[in-house]
Amino acid sequence: MVNVALLGLGTVGSGVVNIFQDPEGRDPLLKEVNLVGVGVRSKTKPRPNSKIAPALLTEDSFALVQDPRVEVVIEVVGSVDIPLKLIRTALKAGKHVVTANKALMARHGTELLALAQSQGVHLRYEAAVGGGIPLIQPLHQCLGANRVSSLLGIVNGTTNYILTKMTQEGRSYASVLAEAQHLGFAEANPAADVEGYDAQEKLAILASIIFRNQLIPLDSIPRKGITGISDVDIRYAAELGYAIKLVAVANRTKEGLLDLRVHPALVPYTHPLSKVDNAFNAVLIEADPVGQIMFYGPGAGAGPTASAVVADLINILSVPDSPMDGDFTATYPLLPIDDVETRFYCRLKAKDDLGVIGHLGQAFGDSAVSLESIVQKAVHGPDQLAELVIITHQVQTKCFNEAIQKIQKLSSIASVDLALRVLGSG
Ligand SMILES: NC(=O)c1ccc[n+]([C@@H]2O[C@H](COP(=O)([O-])OP(=O)(O)OC[C@H]3O[C@@H](n4cnc5c(N)ncnc54)[C@H](OP(=O)(O)O)[C@@H]3O)[C@@H](O)[C@H]2O)c1
Repeated sequence: MVNVALLGLGTVGSGVVNIFQDPEGRDPLLKEVNLVGVGVRSKTKPRPNSKIAPALLTEDSFALVQDPRVEVVIEVVGSVDIPLKLIRTALKAGKHVVTANKALMARHGTELLALAQSQGVHLRYEAAVGGGIPLIQPLHQCLGANRVSSLLGIVNGTTNYILTKMTQEGRSYASVLAEAQHLGFAEANPAADVEGYDAQEKLAILASIIFRNQLIPLDSIPRKGITGISDVDIRYAAELGYAIKLVAVANRTKEGLLDLRVHPALVPYTHPLSKVDNAFNAVLIEADPVGQIMFYGPGAGAGPTASAVVADLINILSVPDSPMDGDFTATYPLLPIDDVETRFYCRLKAKDDLGVIGHLGQAFGDSAVSLESIVQKAVHGPDQLAELVIITHQVQTKCFNEAIQKIQKLSSIASVDLALRVLGSG
């Protein structure tokens, strides 16, 4: 038997217990799991979704982690500070650790992995990215022979759900967000999801794996969320043949720099990520020699996340004596966001002045931005402002931003309402 301590009995912890309590037909190693204790915040809290023996519950997770019987610690508490202390304590005491904690791994992953390595134990975190999608283990092992050149992912289910509903039902961001909060797809404070922080954490973890254990400081990844996107942009994008998605991007440039970013983007309908809808996640990898591989599935939820957590435990039980290898201290230079080259979508309002299109073309041209199309989509208000949608060819970000600054100063332009990146070289 193997003695396991579970820290946290919320959404994910309850899913893990459900698997432990019903091992029939699953990996036979699960029959060897002996749950010695479950750390919670409150022992008296009602737990209708869990048939856990009350005697197993404890409010002293530190004592549980240090219990000499415990061989593997599963951390599904959430937040950063307390789990960091609990996991450090567990690793220093020579215990294997499984965690689903992306916020922790994105900030302290390399330190904790190095600690696990020095202690000769496992630290596994499959559930931290992609929920139920096997992603981290396949990237480490099944694709270990490959050199990854790029990763493109939809890694946040909440924003994908919101954007999908806005697209399919023609509704506003605010109305879909309120519904998502009511249905439990979005938190009461949705900032972590809608401002792109969650996707930024997941990208930091994925990039550190595909680029071989690089230290990726979280704040060095440029991030933009979906709060500025209106139902009008979704409709205009659809008319042009694009879906709008929040994407996480990791490219290795020819010069050896890392291009990492999280932002909404227009994704052509011909691209597989444009079909990833609702709360599903998908990650597309380009690697040598395998070519393109796509991972797809449920990115969160009790069952999918517990599936990944328990898979980590099974892996530890299968090969307890061969924990992590690698150097967790190397760094790669990052490509400055100003130097990133993409196409852009821009929506603006122009006065009904003679020569306004010419002025726009001149301002873009002066900054070396060439245009793929300019379309007038609507006329607004008593001033008869023309709403224009522009798609550029591939340009450097700094050139596009410079052009936008000039355009904002043109007397014929009333407002520049939104600029988004467009995937693909066009
Ligand atoms: N939910 C998902 O779909 C999902 C997907 C991927 C990854 N994750 C990650 O999985 C982790 C857990 O998420 P969750 O959704 O299961 O969270 P949750 O439902 O909020 O559950 C958190 C659990 O931790 C316990 N807890 C909180 N503070 C504690 C403390 N100081 N000491 C001991 N126990 C404490 C809580 O105890 P009480 O029950 O007594 O309040 C609760 O049982 C997070 O890191 C999250 O990012 C979640």
